[in-house]
Amino acid sequence: MQIAVVGSGYVGLVASACFAELGNEVICVDNDSSKLAALQRGEVPIHERFLPELIARHRGQRLFFSGSLERAVRASQVIFIAVGTPSRNNGECDLSFVEGVSREIGRAMNGRKIVVEKSTVPVCTSDWIRKIMLLNGAPRSSFDVASNPEFLREGSAVTDFLYPDRIVIGADSDTCAGVLRKLYEPLICRTYARQKDAVPAPDDATTIPQLIVTSAKSAELIKHASNAFLAMKISFINAIANICEAVGANIEEVCEGIGSDRRIGKRFLAPGIGYGGSCFPKDLKAFRSVAGEAGYDFRLLDEVIRINDEQCQRFLRKVRSALWTLKGKRIAVLGLAFKGGTDDIRESPAVELVRALVRELAEVVAYDPAATERAREVLADDAVTFGDNPYDVASDADALLILTDWEEFAALDLERLRNELKYPIVIDGRNLYSPELMSELGYMYFSVGRPDAMPKERDVTRLKKAG
Ligand code: UGA
Repeated sequence: MQIAVVGSGYVGLVASACFAELGNEVICVDNDSSKLAALQRGEVPIHERFLPELIARHRGQRLFFSGSLERAVRASQVIFIAVGTPSRNNGECDLSFVEGVSREIGRAMNGRKIVVEKSTVPVCTSDWIRKIMLLNGAPRSSFDVASNPEFLREGSAVTDFLYPDRIVIGADSDTCAGVLRKLYEPLICRTYARQKDAVPAPDDATTIPQLIVTSAKSAELIKHASNAFLAMKISFINAIANICEAVGANIEEVCEGIGSDRRIGKRFLAPGIGYGGSCFPKDLKAFRSVAGEAGYDFRLLDEVIRINDEQCQRFLRKVRSALWTLKGKRIAVLGLAFKGGTDDIRESPAVELVRALVRELAEVVAYDPAATERAREVLADDAVTFGDNPYDVASDADALLILTDWEEFAALDLERLRNELKYPIVIDGRNLYSPELMSELGYMYFSVGRPDAMPKERDVTRLKKAG
């Protein structure tokens, strides 16, 4: 199929590369000329597993990058809108990019086409896209507008796309749903997975993804409601972790107990310093406002947001209670990305915490396997230095903080790390280590929702780094 994808951000770029991987001819359009030039040179602007390989495999063959929306629309049968929908100050989605693109698509129409929303948008946006296209000259019978939300997680976006749990097609006609179904056929029938050069399936991939065909409005709601539910799950478990801390229970045991109920499930029950990223914080606010406009006061979402905001503050209090005053203390920070596996620092609780530490005049030295460059830009005005590896930043630090759940951090040489630190204090916002092990290794270890661990059989002063 001939496809245009408008927008080369996380969603647009991953969708473009994956649709090309499924055998389609794809034109990915962006109006940012420097980004476009980089993509045309084969540079990949984001840290995403398997994406460089797919782009290298298809660029110039089935995958093209262009600045001309008009030409891309005219050459395509299906056009995906994957442009940004940033938050306004009042939490509402700014849909001006979606509107601008719809206008241009309307003007460029030259035959029957399907326009598909891929960006996360408020319910009823498909109606607006239709209206704008009509206003701009698209003949009424020449197009359908559909919603095909994505459920990609940064860091595993390519495998989430190619091995999804479900594919949601929100279309208001059977013909339109049929075309989109055909596009996803290699995933639905698993023929893609059997290809010998296929991107390998993750261990937990569902055997056959569920195809869910709905109205466009229901599909739009599915996307917002899914993200809101997942964020609610995180805030819920963070609240339970806080109660665990107050009464001396262990959140891991509690999660095991509640997550074993298949109606609840174990996934997305990891407590920590709160959710971040470009999706949950923005989508929760937007959904809250969409519900309000529809006449429903969705106060549950306010509480989810409040718990999340407070989680960072609670962690900061934990740092203070482990170290007493922070002024002048050297604090090693592992992790700046909003979660492991990505270089994205948008709405990262780790960055927020680093800023708070700097405000309290701590001397922060940070390391992240992928996000350092981006963090360096946003923290340029703050007194933060960056190290080349975890041991480097730990050197002579008063304490070490774990702020992102990178797999690499879970596999550190903890003996070596302890020998680098001035004091063996670790405050872990992601529960990467076992408190028992940390205690055996001589650490004072503080985590989220679990009892604090103190050094076993050794005394802290003896562990103080010589000199
Ligand atoms: C999220 C959704 O998971 C995707 O399904 C969705 O497509 C995407 O938003 C989007 O709307 O585009 P993403 O933001 O990449 O994906 O990251 P998640 O893996 O969902 O993590 C979000 C945040 O929640 C991170 O800060 C993570 O550290 C935190 N989290 C996640 C927890 O604190 N605990 C958990 O158990 C899981």
